[in-house]
Order: sequence, then structure tokens, then C-alpha cells
Amino acid sequence: MINRVSPETMAEMDRLSRKIKERNDAIRESGAGPLTACVKTFGCQMNEHDSEKLRGMLKRMGYDIVPDFSLGGGNLIPDVVLFNTCCVRENAEDRIFGQIGAIKGAKKLKPEMIVGVCGCMTEQDWAVERIRKSYRHVDMVLGTGNTYRLPEVMAARIFDGKRTVGLASEDSVPEGIEADREDRFRAYVTIMYGCDNFCSYCIVPYVRGRERSRLPDDIVAECAKLASEGTKEIMLLGQNVNSYGKGLESVDGTEKTDFAKLIRRVCSETGVKRVRFMTSHPKDLSPDLIAAMAEEPKICAQLHLPVQSGSTSELKRMNRKYTREDYLRRVAEVRRALPDVALSTDIMIGFPGETEEEFLDTLSLLEEVRFDAAFTFIYSRRQGTPAAASPDQVPEEVVKERFQRLTETQNRISREKNEEMRGKVVTVLTEGVSRTNVDRYTGRTEGNKIVNFTAPDSAKVDTGDFARVLITGAQTWSLEGEFVESTD
Ligand code: SAH
Ligand code: SF4
Ligand code: F3S
Repeated sequence: MINRVSPETMAEMDRLSRKIKERNDAIRESGAGPLTACVKTFGCQMNEHDSEKLRGMLKRMGYDIVPDFSLGGGNLIPDVVLFNTCCVRENAEDRIFGQIGAIKGAKKLKPEMIVGVCGCMTEQDWAVERIRKSYRHVDMVLGTGNTYRLPEVMAARIFDGKRTVGLASEDSVPEGIEADREDRFRAYVTIMYGCDNFCSYCIVPYVRGRERSRLPDDIVAECAKLASEGTKEIMLLGQNVNSYGKGLESVDGTEKTDFAKLIRRVCSETGVKRVRFMTSHPKDLSPDLIAAMAEEPKICAQLHLPVQSGSTSELKRMNRKYTREDYLRRVAEVRRALPDVALSTDIMIGFPGETEEEFLDTLSLLEEVRFDAAFTFIYSRRQGTPAAASPDQVPEEVVKERFQRLTETQNRISREKNEEMRGKVVTVLTEGVSRTNVDRYTGRTEGNKIVNFTAPDSAKVDTGDFARVLITGAQTWSLEGEFVESTD
């Protein structure tokens, strides 16, 4: 049963938002404002987008959003600071606790400041306990499934001086939260929450809850609205988009659907120009989706397909539910349908019990597939996951040495793949002036590769424009090019 948050509850959140806004507007008018808020994000795209929703809610409460702040700056400290946390690896958690601790001094200078912690880390009981006891300056803790209740906990803090720590977890699907998006031309749209896969190393299913999909009509309406406001590219988000739609038949009046159907609707019923998605679990990549990618010009020829390991025995221990051969077969199917597809992946090194032979299987898979890019991670032991209990943890020196070999191999391949682009003319969506050189523009190809390109003033290139660009140079993580012509 999918817990769709009722319109009445959302209306109540809106009422509380307006109440906070009236109070904040009065402060502004008295000359003591404006009040400011900052959301600090850790973790994946899912969290980045959740932060956009948190900022949208804070804006509605009458706060001015600031991108960042410095603790040295006395009255420059925001009135609200939210940490949107990640716990996928241990080092992320350590960094976050460091930052939450560091803000304590600022709160001494500004006692009325509100500090909140949200996101994945707060779905672990031990973390909530630690905040409750040792981080007394934190006013509220919200889990991944109850961020929509931000107006409620903020109102409790502002009007009743109440601290909220330890709300019960919820696997909710809230609708109607207006995200404050960072980018006008590219937007994230969540299509589903949670994960049911329980890979043996991964904490996400425990902190994001069970898989639950948004209704297709809600998703299509959001994409259409974004397109009408000027968004050109949409990234559909879910931990495993290929199992989108499971269980939706139980919602009154909803037909059986799946991700291939959904993405076709987003292409045909909205004015967006480019559609991407992540993440796809290899075990669920369907022939229907591959067909949709081949047939639908709006779907970018790009696929992020995390393999984790190239060894069948290690994949089995990881509970990934595919073999090396299954994975290679899937890649071949995708390449048959989309010969120019840009493929990227995630790889993990040092999973418990990883032998040299298993590691060599991963290296050889990299050589065989030749990914355009790979995100490489060192295994981190996550309390509560099956792999954490394994007595076979790999020694640190071995892991480091393997990690080095892995990144060297992949960097060479990424560079060679980029070299193959030299001399080609590609379409990019312009993101703005290049960060490293103000005489150049930066844009992204359909394959999601960054291109830094030159253009004459007469070309009038602007952020959000599509341009055809000749590739003239290649590095490991980016391409160089020259403007050819503007395009739609
Ligand atoms: N749902 C996505 C992944 C989300 S987490 C998928 O299945 O592809 C992103 C990446 O973090 C994973 O692909 C994995 O490579 C890495 N990761 C997850 N748990 C980890 C852990 N305990 N230690 C190190 N890396 C981890
Ligand atoms: Fe984690 Fe596996 Fe779910 Fe991805 S599919 S979020 S790696 S459990
Ligand atoms: Fe993402 Fe980190 Fe949570 S990777 S889903 S923010 S644990």
C-alpha cells in the first residue's frame, strides 16, 4: 500500500507555512529582516533534489535562501540552517557530524537560529540518539520520508519553542511541494522513492524505505509545467527507475504501467527537449526501455548502469542478482540498439572477501566494456547491512593498491573514449561561461560529457541554448570544441 500524503495534510502544511511567513514578513517590515535560510547538501542527486524541495518550502515560509555561509561572519549566519545528510559511506557521516558540531558556536552568537538535520543519516536510530544527546543545539530532525512536515516542526519551534527529534519513519509520497531549482534549464524530477533491492553492502534501503512510485499523471504534469517555464532537460530520478510503477495498480483508477511507458509519455506529452534518467539496476533493464531509448529522439543516448564488480562470485555475495555474463549481454543489447550510447557505471573495491582474482575480473570487465566514465568507491562498512557482519574485511593496503590500479585503467579508457570524439560535431546544451576560462562556454553532450567551447560574439550563445559544436580536443573528464551553429 503506497502512503500518498493526503491533500488535507498538505493543506495543513501550507497553512503553517503561511503562518510562519506572516511572522517573517512582520520581522522584515520592522527592519530587523530579511530572515535567511541555508540548506547544506551531502550525497547523491536524490538528496540534491530533496534540498531543492526544502529550499522551496523555506522560501514559501518567507525566508531568503542563501547558497552558503561562513561561520566567522557574525550577523551573516543564516536564521535557519538545514543539513541534508548522506550515510552511504562512513567518511560522509564523519564530515557531516563535524559540520553540525562546528555550528554550535554560531548558535551561541545567534541563539534564535534554527538548526535542523534531515536526510538519510537521520533514519538510523543511533544517529538520532547521538544528535538528541550530544548535539543539543539541533532543534529538529526530519527523516527522508517526512521532510514534507518541515512547516510543522518549524512552527513548533518558532511558536512553541519545541524541539522535534525522533519522529517515526514514514514511507510517504507527498505531492505539491514546489522545488526551488538551482538550474533553470535542467531539472531533476523524482519518479519514485526508496529501494527494495537490499544489495548486501548498501544502507539505502534502510534509510530511504520501501520502493514507492509517484503517479504517472503527477510526473507528466510536473515535467510539462517545467517545460512551459523554460526547462530543456529533465533527469528522472529513482534508486532503481526500472522498477517504476510496481504496486501502482492498487491506487484507484491507475492502469498498470512501467518505466518505458512513463518515459515515452514524458517525451510525447511535454515540451522538454532532452530526457535522462538514473539509476538503472542491470537486473531490471527491460527490452522495452532499450526500445524506447532507440526510438524516442528526446531520450539521451546515455546510460548509467552500475556494475559494482566484474566477478560473478563477488556479485553473488553483493546480492546484485546478475552475473558478469548477464551484464555483458545487457550492454551488448544496449549498444546494438544505440551504437553511440555513452555508458557510465559505479564500481566498488574491497567488498568483504574480494580476492585478487575477483578484482582482476573487474579490471577485465572495464577493458571489455570500455565505459565512458566510472565512479569508483572504496567499500565502507555500514552498520546493519549483511556485508558489515562479514569477518572477511579486506586489508586497507590491499584495497588502496587495487583502487589505484582501477582508477588508472579507467582514466586511460575515459581519455581514449573522449579522444574518439575528436572531429565529430555534437549538440550541446549550453550551461554558461566556462568555469576555468571566461572566454569559453561550457555545455553538455547527449552523452552527458562536458564540452568547453569557443564561439564568436556574433554567435550570441546563451545559457540554455542548444549549439552544434566541433570537438577539437579531449581530456579525461572533458572535451574541447568550437561553435559551429545554433540549433533547437
Ligand atoms: N541505486 C543505485 C546506487 C545508489 S548508491 C544503484 O544501485 O546503482 C551509489 C553508489 O554508491 C553505488 O552504486 C555503490 O557503488 C556505492 N555504494 C553503496 N554502498 C556503498 C558502501 N557501503 N561502500 C562504498 N560504496 C557504496
Ligand atoms: Fe543500494 Fe542496491 Fe538499492 Fe542501489 S539498488 S540503492 S546499491 S540497495
Ligand atoms: Fe543518496 Fe547518500 Fe541517501 S547516496 S540515497 S543521500 S545515503
